Amino acid sequence: MKFDTPATSNPIDQLKVIGQATDRIDGPLKTRGAAPYAYERHDAVPNPAYGYIVGAGIAKGRIASMDLDAARAAPGVLAIVTAGSAGKLGKGKFNTAKLLGGPEIDHYHQALALVVADTFEQARAAAQLVRIAYERTPGKFDLAAAKDSAPLAKPSDFAGPSETQVGDFAGAFAAAPVQLDASYSTPDQSHAMMEPHATTAAWQGDKLTLWTANQMIDWSVGDMAATLGIPKSHVRLVSPFIGGGFGGKLWVRADALLAALGARAAGRPVKVALQRPLMINNTTHRPATLQRIRLGAGRDGKLTAIGHECWSGDLPEGQPETSANQTRLLYAGANRFTATRLAVLDLPEGNAMRAPGEAPGLMALEIAMDEMAEKLGLDPIEFRALNDTQVDPEQAGRPFSQRRLIECLRLGAEHFGWSRRQAQPAQVRDGRWLVGMGVAAAFRNNLLMKSAARVRLDNKGVVTVETDMTDIGTGSYTIIAQTAAEVMGVPLEKVQVRLGDSDFPVSCGSGGQWGGNSSTSGVYAACMKLRETIATRAGFTPLEAIFEDGMVRVADRAVPLAQVAQEAGDKGLVAEDFMEYGDLGNKYQQSTFGAHFVEVGVDAATGEIRVRRMLAVCAAGRILNPKAARSQVIGAMTMGVGAALMEELAVDKRHGFFVNHDLAGYEVPVHADIPHQDVIFLDETDPVSSPMKAKGVGELGICGIAAAVANAVYNATGVRVRDYPVTLDKLLERLPNVV
Ligand code: MOS
Repeated sequence: MKFDTPATSNPIDQLKVIGQATDRIDGPLKTRGAAPYAYERHDAVPNPAYGYIVGAGIAKGRIASMDLDAARAAPGVLAIVTAGSAGKLGKGKFNTAKLLGGPEIDHYHQALALVVADTFEQARAAAQLVRIAYERTPGKFDLAAAKDSAPLAKPSDFAGPSETQVGDFAGAFAAAPVQLDASYSTPDQSHAMMEPHATTAAWQGDKLTLWTANQMIDWSVGDMAATLGIPKSHVRLVSPFIGGGFGGKLWVRADALLAALGARAAGRPVKVALQRPLMINNTTHRPATLQRIRLGAGRDGKLTAIGHECWSGDLPEGQPETSANQTRLLYAGANRFTATRLAVLDLPEGNAMRAPGEAPGLMALEIAMDEMAEKLGLDPIEFRALNDTQVDPEQAGRPFSQRRLIECLRLGAEHFGWSRRQAQPAQVRDGRWLVGMGVAAAFRNNLLMKSAARVRLDNKGVVTVETDMTDIGTGSYTIIAQTAAEVMGVPLEKVQVRLGDSDFPVSCGSGGQWGGNSSTSGVYAACMKLRETIATRAGFTPLEAIFEDGMVRVADRAVPLAQVAQEAGDKGLVAEDFMEYGDLGNKYQQSTFGAHFVEVGVDAATGEIRVRRMLAVCAAGRILNPKAARSQVIGAMTMGVGAALMEELAVDKRHGFFVNHDLAGYEVPVHADIPHQDVIFLDETDPVSSPMKAKGVGELGICGIAAAVANAVYNATGVRVRDYPVTLDKLLERLPNVV
């Protein structure tokens, strides 16, 4: 099915199942411990051997020698895999550095060897006996030092050009009566998901099966085949349950490749989980950014010049963090300039983490907007309202499909009690706490991806959906079941959903907050095709047939679906289809919007920061399952508090690695850090996005929230921090004098 004209009314609009707050259908499996994760596939692979990865101890250079004798002789060792013994390997298109290094080393903790043994403890003990001598070469590890020589990034299909200019930015900025020119920084961050990267691998002849934790099944089958030099059809990837990904599992990593190579070398299935201290430097991370923002406005508060430049670093051939991109779309202003520059650094590989681009971009832009509002003497919400736009500010003829940013801000202000905020900072005390409120806009694009599904109706009236879509903890199982139940006119209990297997039709996968809308649209397409088959077999004209209560009906003749399937034979009825998209995404700018409100308390003596209240108002098209969507948004808000106040990979600029490589050193929020959170969804549908009329929401919640926290800290204390995370050492010297 092709979606190239805006949706009219369709079966989803019935909202009998879609739009209802529905518990996770996979919840009972998870709470009983019965959902099989990649490292625990006892059901599929009863007696695997264990692999343990040895990571590089230097950031750049080569292996001078590797002594494996002691490790080989250790108890239980079955095989050791290195680049020298693995045979010729290629590289997948989604991996910047090789997953198995040697003799050249591209980054710290790049995998150099896998030790396979009968037990985990044996593999780990033997891995400590691997002796590697290195030849170091100097590397570049300091983004600030590399900044001035960093060129523009290469343009990409995904992110567009790396530089945009509209009107005369420099002239308009110079002439503006009110100006802001400020620099901001965001640190390297780690996904730090609960489940480590993990894979169980088994070969049957020359065919490989990987039970692995992965967001994008089809990308990863392709990359694994390319790396091993075998046909894609010889790789099966199975990933039904995933304990968080946040972009860190968009691709196959060393656990998957080395489990496959280890299983081949040992002649036996092998499982590998990345040990937590290896994950931070071995896998990808969100790159640090340096950002410069220049805003020029008239005394009326209207922006006349908007400039946003961003610098990040990555390994050779890597990607930039596209933190200036949202500034092309978010506010009006006739003269504009954005630039994305990329330095080569020899740190571990930078790549996507939840809302890549917008998350760190809004951390800077939405502080800048707060600073500019203050310079203009305007309320931050009124300042944003003055500079709203309903068209793409870089292409005036191109409207947003929906844009209700200002409604989100105003509704949020009313619910949060924004009118009680003192514009003058450091005015509100509550005992030892200085109290302040902050606001920021949330913005994230809505991306559309082709997605396919297969649906089967059996003689009990059960509808089974199969697609290689993944559920990374987001609720995919549930919204897919809701979609099938709605379209087929059956109760939710009559739907079974099977996900995350490359034997199933290729879906959009989970990434870029496109998963919910795109995967359910693919299921919608397959269900509509199945309806046609069922109606025809029951002797009805398909377009007239009504599907409800487990029956297909025209006027007063109704046939149970189970009966139609029964008459079709043992296999029941099967339909497969996909949803793909025409150029509506070019004609209309599709984005999601929101507003974040935060109240903080800052200890007047110690500078300790506590978040006291949070509210997000979101406009993200039809909300398919308000309960799951709320969970996504509060999770993202929590992650944004981490970005604002805690998360930072400390770079060792001499030796080129992230020092705090575990959850003791890399701090993320815990329950005690997070107070009352509220989420309001605007009641809207976007017929331009898909037949579901939904949009992404899983990343919107992390966009802007960190700036709202930083703005609240400023309002509480009068101390403006432009370098994240906002920690008490950055406040302490500048707190107001207290008696
Ligand atoms: Mo998301 S960073 O595309 O998983």
